[in-house]
Amino acid sequence: MSANPDISVIAPVITIDGPSASGKGTVAQLVSEKLGFHYLDSGALYRIVALAAQQNNIAWDAAEALGKLAESLNISFKNGEVYLGETNITEAVRSEEISRGASEVAIHPQVRNALFALQQSFRKAPGLVADGRDMGSVVFTDAKLKIFLTASVEVRAERRHQQYLGKGLMADFAQILHDLQQRDLRDSRRSASPLIQTPDAVPLDTTNRNIQQTVEFVLTAYKNILQN
Ligand code: C5P
Repeated sequence: MSANPDISVIAPVITIDGPSASGKGTVAQLVSEKLGFHYLDSGALYRIVALAAQQNNIAWDAAEALGKLAESLNISFKNGEVYLGETNITEAVRSEEISRGASEVAIHPQVRNALFALQQSFRKAPGLVADGRDMGSVVFTDAKLKIFLTASVEVRAERRHQQYLGKGLMADFAQILHDLQQRDLRDSRRSASPLIQTPDAVPLDTTNRNIQQTVEFVLTAYKNILQN
């Protein structure tokens, strides 16, 4: 046996990157369950930083203070729920306001650097499925399979709209569409780890695919890699 076991063999990674509301969270979670892999929702980390900043009166453009805050947070995930210290913040981090805040705090390299090691610590045997914007391009560059999920902004806005209505929440389609367009621009134009499709990522347009078909596509692509 080699003295330095290869982490990419012991704990292979599948990355699923893409824009907001592309369905990557649901797909990544289902793929991780099918494979018995761990799951990292990296967007939740940026959401937590935005929420904690709000609670501590730190502005979303205060890069240095946000970086220090991100380093100090006691973040944990238990049974799919998100905790800050002992407090369950699963619902609080999903609000539209915190979604916007997450994409604002995410532009700062200080915040991204502070979260880098935390994200890598999710890589454990038998493997990890990680979703976000820069999972394949920055955090897990040696991932076995990199998927870049897309869907038209209208379809993504409609999916988000239905999610809100399904939860009995008021939702304005035009506002959701506008917010998604703003977030897409911020995520792809920022200089620190922008949302990009790397040459080694497999593009997957889900405009005309449902969740089940998308999950099957990812599982088949992974199986093919293992066989080759
Ligand atoms: O994926 P989710 O919508 O929860 O992400 C919230 C925000 O966090 C995104 O709009 C993006 O700005 C940021 N993010 C990021 N890098 C990641 C994951 C999320 O910049 N890997």
